[in-house]
Amino acid sequence: MRVKPNGSIGVTGSVDFVDKEGNVVETKSDFSLCRCGHSANKPFCDGAHKAANFEAEGN
Ligand code: FES
Repeated sequence: MRVKPNGSIGVTGSVDFVDKEGNVVETKSDFSLCRCGHSANKPFCDGAHKAANFEAEGN
């Protein structure tokens, strides 16, 4: 995972998303997680941080 300056958290590689019983419901590769709170597709980044002029503490 890589925190991007004033942007998302980039995830490289394959990640299993599991339900509360631990069953894999989806597997995704190479995606970005929102950390600005403005995405309409949370937990994923949809680019909304740019329009929101998101500035992370310490970048
Ligand atoms: S970090 Fe990209 S939409 Fe939130």
